[in-house]
Amino acid sequence: MTKQKATNITWHEGAITNADRERLLQQKGVVIWFTGLSGSGKSTLAHAVEEKLFEKGHLTYVLDGDNIRHGLNKNLGFSPEDREENIRRIGEVAKLFADAGIITMTAFISPYRADRDKARALLDDGRFIEVYVKVPLEVAEERDPKGLYKKARAGEIKQFTGIDAPYEEPLNAELVIDTSEHSLEESAEIVLKYLQECQIVK
Ligand code: ADX
Repeated sequence: MTKQKATNITWHEGAITNADRERLLQQKGVVIWFTGLSGSGKSTLAHAVEEKLFEKGHLTYVLDGDNIRHGLNKNLGFSPEDREENIRRIGEVAKLFADAGIITMTAFISPYRADRDKARALLDDGRFIEVYVKVPLEVAEERDPKGLYKKARAGEIKQFTGIDAPYEEPLNAELVIDTSEHSLEESAEIVLKYLQECQIVK
């Protein structure tokens, strides 16, 4: 648990509520949390879902692992503690975006179940949708879009997820999508259908 450091701070409630913003945007502010190995297709899928939603007139935003590590989380590496802090911050930022009414997608390996569960706990029921982007390690390694598995196997990168650092599979993800079995189009449709069924979008 991250301790509250500041004292003498008061929560301020504005007159415009989340419900007001959702009425304006005609959508529910949610977090779609994509998790999976590097190379599983999290970012690609999140952006494909974003395009489909945007075409339907929805306001979306993708928080993407590598991008966030260039800014907000540039002081974090890949030790278990740094990954925990990475996910804690993303969880908090995603919660703010969702509160703004935005359909917020996060694409981080987020290898630890406990850290993902903490991110989930920040949101009301039904507003955190965990999508396990599942592929066999061999497939991710075969894809190796950034050449990182090769480096990890050669010992040039330490603590690489799936090689010498763990990935804890979700036990109760809202969706499990195997991108080695489904095309990008099919995978994006699965997410979209779920959002419609849950009346997050029309
Ligand atoms: S997480 O584990 O803290 O959730 P995050 O999604 O932010 O990871 O970043 C993962 C990305 O960082 C990978 O897709 C890869 O491009 C890069 N990366 C660099 N070093 C590592 C490593 N040791 N383990 C995993 N990914 C790494």
